[in-house]
Amino acid sequence: MGKIEKKHNSLRDALERVSEEFITNNPISYESWKNASGFMPGGNTRTVLHYDPFPVTMKGGNGACLEDLDGHHYIDFLGEYSAGLYGHSNSEIVEALKEAIDGGLVLGAPNQWETKLAEEICNRFNSIDQIRFTNSGTEANLMAIGAARAYTGKDTIMVFEGGYHGGVLYFKSGSSPLNAPYPVIKAPYNDIAGTLALIKQNANILAGVLIEPMIGSGGCIPASTEFLQSLRDITKDCGICLIFDEVMTSRSSAGGLQERLGIYPDITTLGKYMGGGASFGAFGANNDIMALFDPTKANSLAHAGTFNNNVMSMAAGYTGLSKLFTSDVADQLFDQGEKFKSELNDIIKKRDVSLQVTGVGSILGLHTHSEPVSNPVTAQPANLEKLKLIHLEMMAHGFTYAQRGYLTLNLAMVPGDLERFKIAFDEVILKHDDLLS
Ligand SMILES: Cc1ncc(COP(=O)(O)O)c(C=O)c1O
Repeated sequence: MGKIEKKHNSLRDALERVSEEFITNNPISYESWKNASGFMPGGNTRTVLHYDPFPVTMKGGNGACLEDLDGHHYIDFLGEYSAGLYGHSNSEIVEALKEAIDGGLVLGAPNQWETKLAEEICNRFNSIDQIRFTNSGTEANLMAIGAARAYTGKDTIMVFEGGYHGGVLYFKSGSSPLNAPYPVIKAPYNDIAGTLALIKQNANILAGVLIEPMIGSGGCIPASTEFLQSLRDITKDCGICLIFDEVMTSRSSAGGLQERLGIYPDITTLGKYMGGGASFGAFGANNDIMALFDPTKANSLAHAGTFNNNVMSMAAGYTGLSKLFTSDVADQLFDQGEKFKSELNDIIKKRDVSLQVTGVGSILGLHTHSEPVSNPVTAQPANLEKLKLIHLEMMAHGFTYAQRGYLTLNLAMVPGDLERFKIAFDEVILKHDDLLS
């Protein structure tokens, strides 16, 4: 069979044409976005939900599917940046939410759900004896940093270039004026020698080393086991708290990515899907560290948050973990994600284009080159035009994921959803293989 005739001379032409088609095909969403722009800057209240030329507005979701205002249906491979593990409107979660709502909102007291969820998490995570809840992963990380500072009596936090721990803990490029004003030292991800040297030099001021065991928003780049083990060893020797941000990666097994790797931090932060789809965050550690927050003790740290134990997050989170995301299910999802990743990479290889898919388990990142990726800063920069082109083409085929190339699997998906994604991905690559080489 001859090659498909190419209609575009350049990537820019192709992207322009696909963007125009996108606007034409989504008139109601376009109007909705323009209207929203009158009241929210760029029509947006969460930066990561913006993409070019504009984001479609979703009317609703069911199972693994989303429907937008113009009536298009999508298989949801964004999965709310990993918070949508259970898909949309899982019946058990909906029942739990109804029960929680019928039982009364804003009780202003301990409620029956929070201990169940706390117990469930403590039982699953080897490194967590006790836990506290927050409203977001960002808050969980802020509290973990505070705990490390209070516990060690030191003030500086090591983070990694390209890391992301929330809206005020953003270490992607340069420093954000929105960042919380902690003294930080930035280390190179996956660089054992460089990072250990920095830790040794600064051991007397470092309270904690905060790391995503797989850099998520920075491109789904896993840390090597050796790198994490070396951090574990040196932080123990130097009296520094090792903090794993498992807000995304905790879905790698019942006990998180730490369980899969057999490397355990002092403090773990959680978020996303663990609230069953409601707002959620948590930080947990051993009894010694968590005792800092015990209000029955003199001089304990006051950890505030009106909605920390809100019944919706507690009930949905507990139901999700105890009834749906069992240990076996977590392992199956991980394996499914690994298989899907290698199948996408097979398609890329077959079509001989400069792309690759990285990630861990059910969280995947698409890169626009084929060089090995071990560090978000030294990795070749993403070709944003290529990512946009593939994204808009995949949306036209009925699949959503983040334009920057981030995708997740969720429990509501059926094998046919993954098959259809692969077929569409292959078609899109074939259509533009001259531009993607
Ligand atoms: C690794 C990681 N940590 C923390 C956060 C912040 O969580 P939240 O958006 O709930 O504040 C995110 C969000 O994407 C994340 O990916």
